[in-house]
Amino acid sequence: MQKLSKDPKHIAIIMDGNGRWAKKRGLPRIEGHKKGIETVEEIIRAAVEQKIEVLTFYAFSLENWKRPSSEVQGLMRLLKKFLIEKRELLKEKNIHLISIGERERLPKAVQKELSKTEELSKNNKGLILNIALSYGSRQEIISAVKKIAEDIQKKKVKINKINERLFSKYLYTKELPDPDLLIRTSGELRLSNFLLWQISYSELYFTPKFWPDFQKSDFLEAIADFKKRNRRFGGLSVEENN
Ligand code: IPE
Ligand code: IPE
Ligand code: MG
Repeated sequence: MQKLSKDPKHIAIIMDGNGRWAKKRGLPRIEGHKKGIETVEEIIRAAVEQKIEVLTFYAFSLENWKRPSSEVQGLMRLLKKFLIEKRELLKEKNIHLISIGERERLPKAVQKELSKTEELSKNNKGLILNIALSYGSRQEIISAVKKIAEDIQKKKVKINKINERLFSKYLYTKELPDPDLLIRTSGELRLSNFLLWQISYSELYFTPKFWPDFQKSDFLEAIADFKKRNRRFGGLSVEENN
């Protein structure tokens, strides 16, 4: 089936509301995170079916390091388990896993499993599954600025050659297209330091559902909503141009 140009190529998701989902049920927050991982698998499968090219999940922000160490440790344990257990799914569905963020801050054991999963899946040509881990967008931008400044010092880059395209190549997302659609669950209407540069023209979709309650049908609804949008990028729509 040929892909229509209206189909989103890259969908990014701020998975929010795990803690509130658990609290509502009188459960510890970690139970919300566990349930959230089940949702992750459901949405990965749906993205494969929909032939999405890139799916980015915001799994852990740089700001999330501020949470109580018990929660951070619990999340790191779940993450490590996810990286090991999902290798089979990645293989079966031909998925390439990559990650963005300050990985050197992650526990060594997580870094090891992350590298191994990336390595094992690197030749898979289907969906690119991008996990934002220990990620912050402002920090990413600052680090790009530093790298560009270094390259100027080394005379590898000329100041008048700096443009949007060059700048993008210094970001973690250098290989990826910008997200077409950004989804945030849990009813919060903010970006929480996520992909600020990359989403400058993304369509935004907010749903009040907590992440553990988000289902394939909700994902399909977000995509259907996206397809109805008129993306003008500052110009005029096709009809208006004629
Ligand atoms: C999102 O759920 C997952 C992470 C940030 C790791 P939260 O843990 O933020 O859940 P709420 O927002 O407190 O409900
Ligand atoms: C954003 O959620 C980060 C992730 C989903 C990983 P938060 O729950 O950390 O965001 P705030 O604190 O509500 O802005
Ligand atoms: Mg939250």
